[in-house]
Amino acid sequence: MIVVLLGPPGAGKGTQAKRMGSATGFKHVSTGDLLREAVEDGTELGIRAVEYMDAGSLVPDDVMLGLISELLDRKRQGTGVILDGFPRTVPQAEGLDQLLEDRGEIIDRVIFLDIGEEDAVERLSSRVSCPNCGSVHNLTTDLPKVDGLCDTCGGPLVRRPDDEPEKIEHRFEQFQRETRPTIEYYRSEGRLETVDAGRPIEEVQKAIEMVFNRNSGPQAAR
Ligand code: AP5
Repeated sequence: MIVVLLGPPGAGKGTQAKRMGSATGFKHVSTGDLLREAVEDGTELGIRAVEYMDAGSLVPDDVMLGLISELLDRKRQGTGVILDGFPRTVPQAEGLDQLLEDRGEIIDRVIFLDIGEEDAVERLSSRVSCPNCGSVHNLTTDLPKVDGLCDTCGGPLVRRPDDEPEKIEHRFEQFQRETRPTIEYYRSEGRLETVDAGRPIEEVQKAIEMVFNRNSGPQAAR
């Protein structure tokens, strides 16, 4: 099963994908996390991606499609997969459809986490994450047990560099310009399922579970 999670920055894609990955055993593939790891490790991919990411811009489509193609070939090992943050442009969506068609597969669910910009910005402004293990907390809605330290590995929690106010603004511009049309691409084909992501984490999770567990057919899971 292949599930695509779409949504603006701060919608909760990573938070929900991690929970669904734990609940289902599906592999959680976050393109943002993969790129951050590549930057940290100084790989060729990281060197190519870093300037885009630092500016809050999108990494070019050919780079992203190459990354996903390689992942589908190498890392999946027969399990379901949750794609978090990919595709986020129409060429990426078309490219993914082609990659899957070549492998005799389809996307089983496309879930759009829908949230207003103001609420999403508020979440990003209070997000802290652990560069060591990738865990994410929120200083308003999801406090760590020990102030400033990661619940999972005990490492120090920091703000992501692209969560500075002017970078957040740029990421939303990119979302409107590139990812809105991607959402419409899936909607126009009757493949989009919309979840109201402006609610508490557990409520959003339940709504996503409903979409997961349904036999077929997009409906609004609000
Ligand atoms: P990426 O890391 O994917 O960033 P993003 O899409 O901007 O999404 P975020 O990670 O900021 O938010 P999220 O929706 O995962 O929210 P989260 O769960 O953390 O990508 C980073 C960069 O990589 C991009 O800018 C681009 O440069 C590049 N990139 C990645 N993929 C690419 C692609 N396909 N093409 C081109 N470039 C690409 O939650 C946010 C906060 O809110 C947390 O603190 C959390 O605790 C809290 N929270 C979550 N849910 C709730 C809730 N229901 N109620 C209250 N608080 C909540």
